[in-house]
Amino acid sequence: MSAPVINGKQVSEEIRGGLRGEVERLAKQGITPGLAVVLVGEDPASQVYVRNKEKACQDLGYYSEVHRLPSSTTEEVLLALVDKLNRQNDIHGILVQLPLPKHINEKAIIDAISVEKDVDGFHPVNVGNLVIGDDSLLPCTPAGVIELIKRTGIEMAGKHAVVIGRSNIVGKPVSLLLQREHATVTMCHSRTANMKELTAQADILVVAIGKANFVDASYVKPGAVVIDVGMNRLDNGKLAGDVDYESVREVSGPITPVPGGVGPMTITMLMQNTLIAAKRLN
Ligand code: GUN
Repeated sequence: MSAPVINGKQVSEEIRGGLRGEVERLAKQGITPGLAVVLVGEDPASQVYVRNKEKACQDLGYYSEVHRLPSSTTEEVLLALVDKLNRQNDIHGILVQLPLPKHINEKAIIDAISVEKDVDGFHPVNVGNLVIGDDSLLPCTPAGVIELIKRTGIEMAGKHAVVIGRSNIVGKPVSLLLQREHATVTMCHSRTANMKELTAQADILVVAIGKANFVDASYVKPGAVVIDVGMNRLDNGKLAGDVDYESVREVSGPITPVPGGVGPMTITMLMQNTLIAAKRLN
C-alpha cells in the first residue's frame, strides 16, 4: 500500500484560516500587517515568487509594497531603499528577493534589514537566536517543514532525523529546528560517505540537496516520514523534487509531493512571520 500524502496546500490553507482571524483582530486595533518585497532584475523564477507573495498579501488582507528595480541598481540605492523601509511604520516585514545581481553584496543587504522586520529569518542576529534557542523570526521553508511533520501527528522527540543538504537557507536551520523538537539529527551532504547507511536509519528524512529524484527507495527506512524540499526544473519543463516520489512512496510513511508539499508552506510561513512582526512592532 502506498504511503499517505502530506498535503502542503491543505495545511497551508488551514494556517491561513488562522491568520485571517488574527488579521481581523488586529484590524480592530487599527493595525494592518504590511510586507515590502524588493525585486532587483528580471529573473523569471524570482518574478513568479514575488507575484505569489503579492497575491498572498491580497488574499489575507495585508498591506503590501513591491519594489521592482532594474538589474543595474547599485548597492547604495538598494541600501537606501532598505533603510527607508526599516523606518516606515506601515511596513512590518521586508523581503529582498534572492539571488541579487552579482555586483551587489547580498550579505551587506541582509545585514541592513532591521532584525525585527527580517521576515526571511536570514539576518545574522535571527540566525544566532535560532542557534541558541531564543525567540526569533524563523526562516520560512524550515519552519514550514517542521509544521508539516507536526501535522502528521508523528512525535519528533527521540526520533532519528536525517537531513540531506547543508545550505544556510534550508539544511542548517532545519537541523536546528529538529533538535529543538528533541530529535537526534544527522546531517548529510554532497561529500558524505555511505549516505544510504545513514538515511536508512532515519525515522524522519528531510531532503534539500537540489538534485532531481536523488533519493530513491533504497535510501529510505520503511515507514519513515519523508519531506522533499527540492524544486528542480527538468528539461521537459516539469517540476521534480529531490525525492523519486513514486518509488519512495512504496516504502515510506507520510511523504510530501512536489509540487504541493513544502512549496505552498513557504509563503504561508512568510505571512505568519509578517503577522508576528506586526504584533511585536505595535
Ligand atoms: N529566493 C529563493 N528563496 C528565497 C527566500 O526564501 N527568500 C528570499 N529572500 N529569496 C529567495
